[in-house]
Amino acid sequence: MYKIMSIFGTRPEAIKMAPIIHAAAKDPQLESIVTVSAQHREMLDGVLHAFSITPDHDLNIMRHGQTLQSITSVILEQLTPVLEQERPDMVLVHGDTTTTFASALCAFYLQIPIAHVEAGLRTYHRYSPFPEEINRQLVSRLSTLHFAPTQTSAQNLLNEGICEKDIFVTGNTAIDALRLTENGQYHHEALDWAGGHRILLLTAHRRENQNGGLEHIFHAVLTLCERHPDIRVIFPCHRNPMIRSLAHEMLDGCNQIRIIEPLEVYDFHNIIRHSYLILTDSGGIQEEAPSLGKPVLVLRDTTERPEGVKAGTLKLVGTQEERILEESERLLNDAAAYAAMSNAANPYGDGRASERILAALHAYFEKNA
Ligand code: UD1
Ligand code: UDP
Repeated sequence: MYKIMSIFGTRPEAIKMAPIIHAAAKDPQLESIVTVSAQHREMLDGVLHAFSITPDHDLNIMRHGQTLQSITSVILEQLTPVLEQERPDMVLVHGDTTTTFASALCAFYLQIPIAHVEAGLRTYHRYSPFPEEINRQLVSRLSTLHFAPTQTSAQNLLNEGICEKDIFVTGNTAIDALRLTENGQYHHEALDWAGGHRILLLTAHRRENQNGGLEHIFHAVLTLCERHPDIRVIFPCHRNPMIRSLAHEMLDGCNQIRIIEPLEVYDFHNIIRHSYLILTDSGGIQEEAPSLGKPVLVLRDTTERPEGVKAGTLKLVGTQEERILEESERLLNDAAAYAAMSNAANPYGDGRASERILAALHAYFEKNA
């Protein structure tokens, strides 16, 4: 029996770790423990509830106004006794948040091996996305096993000198999670409000967009609404108070825009399915939308998900108002351009990434027993 500990703290990590935790719970040779930092509180709890996960340890660290430094230092302090008490055979972390980095560093200090889920994503721009690009590069240095979602991400790791035998191309567990939330008979009050109009689904939260980028995005969306009375914008707004107050200040006057609370993952996945177009600076949504055949305009200057761009479903448009308008209008007005971007292509796997991750863990444990 081997003990694994999954450690995560934010909404996207929880969504993409949930399928692994479910699979591990059914594995008689694994003892699976869950520790959450709760870097996010409400947004994490929604996912835990949706996937029926009860953490064994909850560090409950979230504070309004938390900084990268405060998150890192609190996790290092509070995770240490938990790891010392549990002494797992492997720690699993996901992606590139500050919880991911600080937890991996803490495990490394205690010489506990680390498996990195969603490894090898890169932009090679240190401040874009910030701080995620450097977080994930550092976690690659700290990890023993690397679960790369695609061949492209595996190649990045190989280029950085990581041993081929430690890299596993698994697919992305985001696709495993999508399979858990599908519902053909879906209803939601925000969809009723949209009343059959074309829906633009908007999300925005990146730190590098909090310095002017968000204002440009919101201006572009307001102009789009003026020019297209037939669209409705649904904006499930992140709980970051700065983003919320700016969003309400700028967008409340427009009756084609609906700012709502962050959606539970089940609702969000199904609302993607009913949307016409997605405008987002999110990472995870860039993985989900291609597999659902929904065009995404990525409100960032870089992406670590070139597979979706290559598949034709994602387009990188940055945060300049003119460009957002131009690309959105093309998709609203030109049926051929829309059709070209809405072909469901799925570069992120077959929904069986969790199985492959567990198989690789078993192989590692057997070899190192
Ligand atoms: C974090 C991650 C980012 C990830 C994002 C997913 C870092 C540095 N950033 O950014 O990589 O893309 O999560 O959403 O790790 N808040 C609440 N309730 C919640 C969640 C957040 O009130 O459930 C508020 C708090 O005031 C908190 C603030 O949002 O201080 C910012 O949260 P934080 O985790 O620091 O940054 P995110 O932008 O969410
Ligand atoms: N998501 C959600 N509710 C929302 C918005 C997003 O459940 O209101 C899900 C989405 O389906 C995806 C994940 O949250 O799985 C993306 O999280 P986020 O954009 O916060 O972080 P990122 O992926 O950029 O790190």
